[in-house]
Amino acid sequence: MPSSFTQLLLKWNENENYRPMPWKGEKNPYKIWLSEIILQQTRVEQGWAYYEKFLKNFPTIFHLAAAKDEKVFKLWEGLGYYNRCKNLLFTARQIVKEFKGKFPNSYEGLLLLKGVGPYTASAIASFAYNLPHAVVDGNVFRVFSRFYGIATPIDTKEGIAIFNKIAFENLSKTQAGIYNQALMDFGATVCKPMSAQCPSCVMQKKCIAFTQNQVNLLPVKLKTIQKKKRFFDFLIFRHDEQYLIQKRGEGDIWSNLYQFYLIENEKPIVMDSKYVQKFILEPLALSTKNIISLLPSSMYKQTLTHQEIQARFIIINLNRKPALFAKALWVKKDGFKKYPFPKIVNDFLKMALNKGKSGFSL
Ligand code: ADE
Repeated sequence: MPSSFTQLLLKWNENENYRPMPWKGEKNPYKIWLSEIILQQTRVEQGWAYYEKFLKNFPTIFHLAAAKDEKVFKLWEGLGYYNRCKNLLFTARQIVKEFKGKFPNSYEGLLLLKGVGPYTASAIASFAYNLPHAVVDGNVFRVFSRFYGIATPIDTKEGIAIFNKIAFENLSKTQAGIYNQALMDFGATVCKPMSAQCPSCVMQKKCIAFTQNQVNLLPVKLKTIQKKKRFFDFLIFRHDEQYLIQKRGEGDIWSNLYQFYLIENEKPIVMDSKYVQKFILEPLALSTKNIISLLPSSMYKQTLTHQEIQARFIIINLNRKPALFAKALWVKKDGFKKYPFPKIVNDFLKMALNKGKSGFSL
């Protein structure tokens, strides 16, 4: 017998859940997988267009597996967390090569794929094959902590164990796919983090948090993450209408994306002549005579899960290319669109290429 929660959720889903999304009800595991990877760290409103763009360019896993890396990264641009994109390509090629293009049809098989964790494996297993696996994430924790009035912190071993158990107990074993999608939709549209829609909620009478006036106190979280602050100076070397760009390596944020020459500092440093001498001229064997002009931008910010990036962009007009970069990648302004850049660089480029408006242009 399904719990009150499950009955109310499925009833709500049938009568009141109006949330159209292009992947809803989808049975094709490739399309479900694609949507779930996109939605891992992206809001539905933003992910929607990317999902459609990817399917248009790569209607099947065979198209995606055969695509050039650069093309896929370029299409991913703006979504962030590029490891997802790297894993997407790796997995597409693996499935084509090792499984003749057929997706694993079990939870355990799905979990072996790069970039697929318990949440995504449960989503694919339940949506594509109706297998009884419950999705569990921060939204699910929130819904259950409120409905059952559980104040155990969700970022503790004990809390995680409790909520996992509750998630499985409430899962509809016969309609796992419909139930999981309904739970996601309910958390996103009704039982929201801030303005929960309690006055019109079908769970009202049975919801402990509502009846005890605790909705905004739940869920409880022990610690808030301290974000690491990083300070980037991007030097935009310009010579003869060309700009130096470099491909980032692996092992840090933004792997394989492009950027301007980067100096990272532990704290913000005033851009004075000492700085120019120590960090720009000396390391690159340049002298002040080589610099026609040098112009720093204002500060740009980008917040990632565990880091906060603050960046300045310094446009440096040179009368010769530094010997160190003679063989490097120099591109004209209209060539930028061919390369994938991190969001913070794109934010700057958008401003700097939009001449006239800011008075600061490339
Ligand atoms: N977030 C992750 N998967 C989702 C889905 N299938 N629908 C809406 N939001 C989601």
